[in-house]
Amino acid sequence: MRVLTYSNYDEMSAAAARMIATRIAELSEPVLGLATGSTPIGMYSELARLHNEEGLDFSGTTTFNLDEYWGLDPDDPRSYHWFMKEHLFSRVNLDPAKTHVPRGIGVDPDAECERYEKLIEEVGGIDLQVLGIGMNGHIGFNEPGSDPNSRTRLVRLAQQTVDVNMAKGALDSLPGHALSMGIGTIMEAKEILLLANGQGKAEIIRRALLGSVTRDVPASLLQTHSNVVCMLDEPAAKLLDLS
Ligand code: GLP
Repeated sequence: MRVLTYSNYDEMSAAAARMIATRIAELSEPVLGLATGSTPIGMYSELARLHNEEGLDFSGTTTFNLDEYWGLDPDDPRSYHWFMKEHLFSRVNLDPAKTHVPRGIGVDPDAECERYEKLIEEVGGIDLQVLGIGMNGHIGFNEPGSDPNSRTRLVRLAQQTVDVNMAKGALDSLPGHALSMGIGTIMEAKEILLLANGQGKAEIIRRALLGSVTRDVPASLLQTHSNVVCMLDEPAAKLLDLS
């Protein structure tokens, strides 16, 4: 794993956006895996800027989001569909037919997960998967204990995850379940970009990067992937001894 540290959040976000822009330019039909949460918001803003000011063209790019709350309509502002529209899809020239987020309502969950896996397979897999990290080490919505071979499925969220995400969004309620790509699905991406910022992530980043590889810290499983770049701001890297 390559660990890159930046002096602040904006620099980390700009570097992450540059990496994505490079892959979009290099690949003829790029397939990106995308994440939600507060961490990638700056990266999405920078991608929108690169589109508007430097002509970064998303028209040939396909995207797959990691997860969606179970039971939320895409028009619900708490949903990840909404988040993606707000932060990226409405700001760049992605083809709506090529942007995919698991459907969290009005579908049979197992059939939806199977459909999602097939879609990823049909386009030849994910070239670059962006990940944030939860306070308990989750990636996507793969909570501690998740099977390293898991595929896209309906998952129960840890109470801590629901509480943290409600607090961040100043929300009164969130579903206790979600559809999430599995660890196995994520690990099949050709390249992974893990992002974390802020001092609050320092301890879980230390455990994920330097601790033992265990399903109790899902992000630690990334140590077994051959092509991971981890971008951190200085506060998140505080407990790593990179000397
Ligand atoms: C959610 C998402 C994760 C994300 C995590 C961290 O639970 N499902 O994909 O990585 O939050 O969020 P944040 O970036 O806000 O810390």
